[in-house]
Amino acid sequence: MQIYLDTAEVEDIRKYAAWGVIDGVTTNPSLVAKSGRVFEEVIEEICGIVDGPISAEVTALDADGMVAQAEPLAAIHSNVTIKVPLIPEGLKATKRLREKDVKVNVTLCFSATQAVLAAKAGATMVSPFIGRLDDRGERGMALIEDIVRTFRNYPQFNTKVLVASVRNADHVRQSALLGADICTIPPKILDKMVSHDLTDTGLAAFLKDWENAQTAEGATTS
Ligand code: G3P
Repeated sequence: MQIYLDTAEVEDIRKYAAWGVIDGVTTNPSLVAKSGRVFEEVIEEICGIVDGPISAEVTALDADGMVAQAEPLAAIHSNVTIKVPLIPEGLKATKRLREKDVKVNVTLCFSATQAVLAAKAGATMVSPFIGRLDDRGERGMALIEDIVRTFRNYPQFNTKVLVASVRNADHVRQSALLGADICTIPPKILDKMVSHDLTDTGLAAFLKDWENAQTAEGATTS
């Protein structure tokens, strides 16, 4: 499974890219607004840090407007992936952008039937938002299971399943078990994924034993 970072904070992207585990980055208008920076500048900077798909979302609501906004973004770098919403105009824009060989991430997906439409339009990836379904008492992971199983039935679909709106490390574990192609993860969840109390206590014990052995060795050779 590929791991993308779900943030527009360049310092976080540098930090986690250095771990060697980041395959791409997703941003959205909320995340870019939170960074307080100029959209195009942030996208260009991220492209210089991570060599993989970098999602940049358009805000127009009509296909012509989406394509017009997408073109200068796609010109920033060949890794820029245009994010369009899963609405009829977004599907139209997907088709047109794919004809120009621009990568497209169809976002705000909340059902398997929406995902099928995204795949039919030629989306490079589709982003089901699992946390927002959990928030209202539905089971986000069930949607991932439905989409993964559905896409497996149709090898001609070239659309990757990108699990988004991830709220905890267990979402990542379940996504991997289900065979989702990509999981986009907020930085704080990557921190949770890497840490385990037994790793910390185990490391402390190893270091203590090592130190004790060095001290004992020093005592016998002096
Ligand atoms: O990037 C899209 C998605 O991951 C947003 O997540 O937490 O705002 O539902 P969230």
